[in-house]
Amino acid sequence: MERIVLPDIKDLHLIDVYIQNGGYQAVKKAYAMSTDDVIAEVKKSGLRGRGGAAFATGLKWSFMPKTTDKPKYLCVNGDESEPGSFKDRQIFEFNPHQLLEGVLIACYAIQAKAAYIYIRGEYAKWVKLLQKALDDAYDKGFVGEKMKETLGSQFSCDIFIHKGAGAYICGEESALMNSIEGKRAYPRVKPPFPASNGLWGNPTTINNIETITNVPAIINKGAEWFSKIGEPKHPGTILCGVSGHVNKPGVYEIPTGTLLTDVIYKLAGGVPGDKKIKCVIPGGSSMPPLRGDQLEGVKMDADSLKAIGSGIGTAGVIVMDEDTNLVKVLARISKFYHHESCGQCTPCREGAGWLQKVLERIAAGNGVSSDLDLLISIASNIEGNTVCALGEAAAWPVRFMVTKFRQEFETYVKADVSIPVPNKVHSMRATEFPVADIKL
Ligand SMILES: Cc1cc2nc3c(=O)[nH]c(=O)nc-3n(C[C@H](O)[C@H](O)[C@H](O)COP(=O)(O)O)c2cc1C
Ligand code: SF4
Repeated sequence: MERIVLPDIKDLHLIDVYIQNGGYQAVKKAYAMSTDDVIAEVKKSGLRGRGGAAFATGLKWSFMPKTTDKPKYLCVNGDESEPGSFKDRQIFEFNPHQLLEGVLIACYAIQAKAAYIYIRGEYAKWVKLLQKALDDAYDKGFVGEKMKETLGSQFSCDIFIHKGAGAYICGEESALMNSIEGKRAYPRVKPPFPASNGLWGNPTTINNIETITNVPAIINKGAEWFSKIGEPKHPGTILCGVSGHVNKPGVYEIPTGTLLTDVIYKLAGGVPGDKKIKCVIPGGSSMPPLRGDQLEGVKMDADSLKAIGSGIGTAGVIVMDEDTNLVKVLARISKFYHHESCGQCTPCREGAGWLQKVLERIAAGNGVSSDLDLLISIASNIEGNTVCALGEAAAWPVRFMVTKFRQEFETYVKADVSIPVPNKVHSMRATEFPVADIKL
């Protein structure tokens, strides 16, 4: 299989090697096209975002207003803080120039004069690597004012690297823009959407690192070529980060539609000790989990995973073997989302904390039988009632894990003790909530 995002070329991170292998040709080709034609090509390719929601990239670019005097911006999202997701850093390390070339093409298509690559603050090593690549691209005249001369174009743009502020919420697109603006990374209420009111109130497009890295290949080889790779409705390749109980954890570039079992057994070398799989989270910790007996025939693409009640997310595949204690796993996941809640809206701020408390109580052996319904009730009261999707990210693992592995959770709770579970918790103050009052 041809690798698009992480080609198997030695030292490709070096600008000279990248140029020797056809690098910075796609940007020349794109700049000779009209901006509408570039957007049409990306639309035709079927490229969908790799940042979680699998939204159509060309369509997103077409939302940018054409008749405006306001400056336009591109934000490229490399915050990568979802547990189980560690793919974008491979691009920073092994193919940064293809990312930069993609940024130059995207900026031209949407007529943005500046792009901000937002990179997870903890990625100190990768910030340095990316900065080196960007400095080299400036020196060779591929970025900034000099690109007019180098590429013989009327258009030029600048690229800035912005280090993240150490919080998962900074990856949410509107929180990311607040963070770049120097504000606290609170997600914004939408509408208005970034295409009209983004950075400093100006039209802005936000795309994931991997999404943008696909663009030079699409321009070079054509939309038709790209659209024939993998699943027709979600074409191309995806970087699949496999972790947990596998012999060869790592990032694998696969055509969309590859069987999940092939990813686990053929690429990641199967489960240590040939143990059975109890649970797999296919798209990063916020995606609903699959039971071990649900894996047969499951394909790695947005629509196939949606059809079986999960999601492609960031394609971070987390494998858990038969000996895994799912109560402890879920308690840990909930601790993460509670810690990362920005606190702006009540159902997420309070609910994520309640989920963590109840799960830790169950894990400690002090759970009661009604706790399982209580967890589902709390999760349902978070979902759909928050400013951003971190609410769902906190609620889904709990709702689906408890539902799909109910028996395992039941063995942990005391069957004879039960506390009434409220249907609606919105009107209750935290102090009135049963979680705080239970003494066993
Ligand atoms: C809590 C939260 C965290 C997110 N973190 C990231 C992230 O680290 N990287 C990313 O690309 N998208 C992340 N997203 C999704 C972005 O909001 C946005 O949809 C994405 O960057 C768009 O890029 P795409 O269209 O290329 O997929 C996150 C969303 C939420 C709700
Ligand atoms: S859902 Fe959570 S993270 Fe998102 S805005 Fe509300 S409190 Fe903040």
